[in-house]
Amino acid sequence: MSDTKKFDLIVIGGGPGGYVAAIRAAQLGLSVLCVEKRKSLGGTCLNIGCIPSKTLLHSSHLYEFSKKHFTNFGINIDGKVTLDLNKMMENKVAVVKKLTNGISSLFKKNRVSFIEGEAKITGNDTVMVKNNNYFAKNILISTGSVPSTIKNVEVDEKNVVTSTGALQFSEVPKNLAVIGGGYIGLELGSVWNRLGSNVTVIEFSPNIVPTMDIDTADIFYKTLKEQGLKFLMSTGVKSAKLKGDKVILKCLNNIHNNEESIEFDKVLVAVGRKPFYDGLGLDSLGLKINEDKTIKVDTNFRTSVPGIFAIGDVINGPMLAHKASAEGHVFAERLVGNNPVLNYGCIPAVIYTEPEVAWVGPTEKELLQKDVKYKKGIFPFTANARGKTTGETVGNIKVLSHPENDRIIAVHIIGAHAGELIGEAVTAIEAGFSAEDIASICHAHPTLSESMKEAASLASIGKTLHI
Ligand code: NAI
Repeated sequence: MSDTKKFDLIVIGGGPGGYVAAIRAAQLGLSVLCVEKRKSLGGTCLNIGCIPSKTLLHSSHLYEFSKKHFTNFGINIDGKVTLDLNKMMENKVAVVKKLTNGISSLFKKNRVSFIEGEAKITGNDTVMVKNNNYFAKNILISTGSVPSTIKNVEVDEKNVVTSTGALQFSEVPKNLAVIGGGYIGLELGSVWNRLGSNVTVIEFSPNIVPTMDIDTADIFYKTLKEQGLKFLMSTGVKSAKLKGDKVILKCLNNIHNNEESIEFDKVLVAVGRKPFYDGLGLDSLGLKINEDKTIKVDTNFRTSVPGIFAIGDVINGPMLAHKASAEGHVFAERLVGNNPVLNYGCIPAVIYTEPEVAWVGPTEKELLQKDVKYKKGIFPFTANARGKTTGETVGNIKVLSHPENDRIIAVHIIGAHAGELIGEAVTAIEAGFSAEDIASICHAHPTLSESMKEAASLASIGKTLHI
């Protein structure tokens, strides 16, 4: 901690939004203090979100793949693959520790001061932590979000858990209910399904991940079902009751209106997240809150109180770590007078299941609703040479482009490494590329990325070489 209690900027929250803002502002010459109530930096993403879940997704994929698919490649393991869940969890903890410690080192390197503790904003230039006041011309709220809950379903993080509990079960639950077929439900449902759980996803809407392109969602749904996940669609949960070590869920199908009680060993509640700013004192400051409980900000992240700014999950927009980080970066630049622009129409979404799903730009349904005309090209991974060599042939790439100028509007991918492939689409859209531009760029052979070139060619001229 620095001796002084006066800073140019105090950042409240050390997650992907806050720590990026703090580091960049320090690099730009500002004196910065970051206040974080967790012992380790990195927020939800690094501690109890993206990083531990992706580690478990990778470990559980290796386990399942070695058991079910090694023989296809001429590797016999004679049923000797066994699960050491403790070791798997230890590896997850070690990965989290490396990354969270990494941020502490980056703070030191960039001279960002850090205090562990809960912050309260007591004036538009004052933040109180553990009864000490700290002062700054600018205060940034980047306190993130917490899981939403549902009526009559009480979370105890033992039998009825949020993602936090589902990332640290000490044994594989025999029957696991996942309430919510969104990002968290399908990623963590996949982890436990691969490790041997009977997983039932209970989803309120008729489609999984309602924000996903419908064709992609259809392939995704079918593939997850083939992997063993069960789905109760158009079904809401009315209540959860503990019975000994079990949980009884009362479920209501909202099409047929029939009610059913089902017993599970564990229940994961994954029905979305809500902005978190409890205890910050926003009421007394008179800071304006939107109807959906996000903090009201203008395009420069200014709240209704001068000197106080907000970014990330506490403001409007998708609750994604990379969106928060991008906002943190732009916020810091603007604070010193630079003016980078964040294109909210070009924020990728990725679901790290097998296959992965990734997209950027609107879905076909959204375009149709807005009466926006488009051309489309879809190229399946079954016709991709690299996919054939690795056995990763599920899914496709869909490119949507403007009917007249061919400018790329959106790209939807379901398939292996979709999360990596989407990078090309994001760059292309930001750069204003046409589908023909992508179609005429030399892509390495054999790679999955060649399917982007082929899908773009289909969108642009309706023809391609390999189908
Ligand atoms: P979500 O918004 O992705 O999905 C929630 C699902 O729950 C929706 O499909 C909704 O229809 C359903 N639902 C809501 N109430 C219900 C009820 N009472 N009964 C049954 N279903 C119900 O939210 P999720 O999965 O909790 O994730 C939270 C946030 O975390 C998301 O906004 C996501 O952006 C972020 N996240 C991102 C990840 C990534 O980038 N890969 C991974 C995990 C989370």
